[in-house]
Amino acid sequence: MDVRIVDSYDDLSEKAAEIVAAEVKQNRRAVLGLATGSTPEGMYAVLAGYHRDNKIDFSGVTTFNLDEYAGLSREHSQSYYYYMHRHFFDHVNIDPRRINIPESSSEDVVRSCREYEQKIKEAGGIDLQVLGIGVNGHIGFNEPADSLDVYTHLVELAEETIEANSRFFNSRDEVPHQALTMGMGSIMHAAKILLLASGKNKARAIQKTVSGKITTAVPASLLHMHCSCTVIVDREAAALL
Ligand code: GLP
Repeated sequence: MDVRIVDSYDDLSEKAAEIVAAEVKQNRRAVLGLATGSTPEGMYAVLAGYHRDNKIDFSGVTTFNLDEYAGLSREHSQSYYYYMHRHFFDHVNIDPRRINIPESSSEDVVRSCREYEQKIKEAGGIDLQVLGIGVNGHIGFNEPADSLDVYTHLVELAEETIEANSRFFNSRDEVPHQALTMGMGSIMHAAKILLLASGKNKARAIQKTVSGKITTAVPASLLHMHCSCTVIVDREAAALL
C-alpha cells in the first residue's frame, strides 16, 4: 500500500485526476472502475477540465461503477446513475454504451449481478479502480462483517452508512437500506487501485485501514493484499497516522 499524504482536498483531487488521466493516456481503451460520494467530486471536476482543454480523450474508455442504491430510480437526484452523469459523464466524451452502473431496479437482482460481473470480464477486467471509503471502513458498499462477498451482490447497508449518507437526502427515512455493490473480489481483481479519503471524519477509518490489522471488520484493510494500491489522503484524513 503506497500511502501519499497531501495538504488539501484540492491537491487530492488534482493528484487523483492525474493518475486516472495517465491511465487513459497510456491506454485509450482503459477500463475504469469508478466511485461516487463527495470525495471523488473534485477529481471528476479536474478530469472534466482536462477534457475541456483537449488534454484527454475518453471516447475509448469503458467504466464500471462500484455500486448503486436499491429502490431509487435512475432519475432520482441521489441515485449514483444521476450522480455520475451530473459530475462526470455529461462533461466528457465518453461513449454512453461503455458506461456500466449496477442495475438495481431489475426484477432479478441475482441475475443482474451475475451479468455485471460477466461484463467486467468481457471488458478484460478493470485497469484502475477508484475507491472512496466509508466512515466504518467500507469500500463500495462492502460493509464490515464476519465474511465478505466476492462478487457483485445485494447488500443491507450498515446503520453508520445510512447515517453518514443521510446528509444527501431530505431525511434519514429516505435513505435506501439496500444497495448493489461490486464485491471484494471484483475490487481486488482490478490491476490497480486508487483509494481516496478526505476530512477528519475519515481519520479513524484511514488509521484502521493503513495501520491496523487486515480484517473483514474493516473491509478497506484487505487492500493491503493488493499488489498495486495507492492511497491518497489529505492532512485531516491522515491525522491519526
Ligand atoms: C458511499 C459509497 C462509497 C463511498 C463512501 C464515502 O457509501 N457507497 O463508495 O466511498 O460512501 O462517501 P463520501 O466520499 O461521500 O464520504
